[in-house]
Amino acid sequence: MGAYDLTAFAGMRGLTMNVAVAGRGPVAVAVHGFPLDHRMWADQLGVVSGRRLLAPDLRGSGGTPWVGDPVHTMELLADDVASVIRSAAPDGADVVGLSMGGYVSLALAERHPELVRSLVLCDTRSRPDTPEARARRDATIDEVVSRGREALADTLVGVLVASDADPLVRARLRTMIEGTPTESIVAFSRGMRDRPDRTAVLAGLEVPVLVVVGEHDALVPVSEAEEMAAVAGARLEVVPGVGHMPPMEAPEVFNRLLERFWRDEVPAVR
Ligand code: MLT
Repeated sequence: MGAYDLTAFAGMRGLTMNVAVAGRGPVAVAVHGFPLDHRMWADQLGVVSGRRLLAPDLRGSGGTPWVGDPVHTMELLADDVASVIRSAAPDGADVVGLSMGGYVSLALAERHPELVRSLVLCDTRSRPDTPEARARRDATIDEVVSRGREALADTLVGVLVASDADPLVRARLRTMIEGTPTESIVAFSRGMRDRPDRTAVLAGLEVPVLVVVGEHDALVPVSEAEEMAAVAGARLEVVPGVGHMPPMEAPEVFNRLLERFWRDEVPAVR
């Protein structure tokens, strides 16, 4: 793990966002998954070379407060991230999004294409929730409201990582899930449940794209990542032996993929 600073950036509607910052070079922004925070990128911050990496806490996550929104739409979250990028890198940034962070990144690419220089889509999808997945969101909301975040963590940690994952990685996930306000978990779940299909956005991207997926991801099958890569005309990297969280489960492999993509496929930037 590397060292990083925590800085305040302005989000939308007066929100103060907590953002981890480390490294030197052109700006890259890493957007976390659900219901996590910037700490899921602890093995990238201050470790990945060639970029100044910013990892915002989305509203209601980590050090960014929940400020009363009943729904965290992917559009609202994307506008918050756009606000951070505009402050740190007005010419745009290399964006990395994992899972829910990928939904947000596609919304960002749709709404603020001028701010996205390249895109890494990790263990995520462009398609909307199926009716069954929407029903599962409602079940998650019921579970967290009635049984608490610990119960959600009990269910989720085992789904997020491969069966032989390091107990420290599991502990880090549990800490983040149990620290996310219940109100945020509800608002994120509603926002993901109601997100639109962004496959056309993926197909229309005019920037370099890399699709990454863990070989044993229980939430996004490799076949779906293959389809996304085909739609985007992008390369797919399957990270062997890991689940839904390659940046935490296989940081060395993941970091090398990022560094190589930025070096070889993203046109030279200041
Ligand atoms: C995530 O890791 O962000 C979630 O698995 C996304 C989702 O539930 O769709």
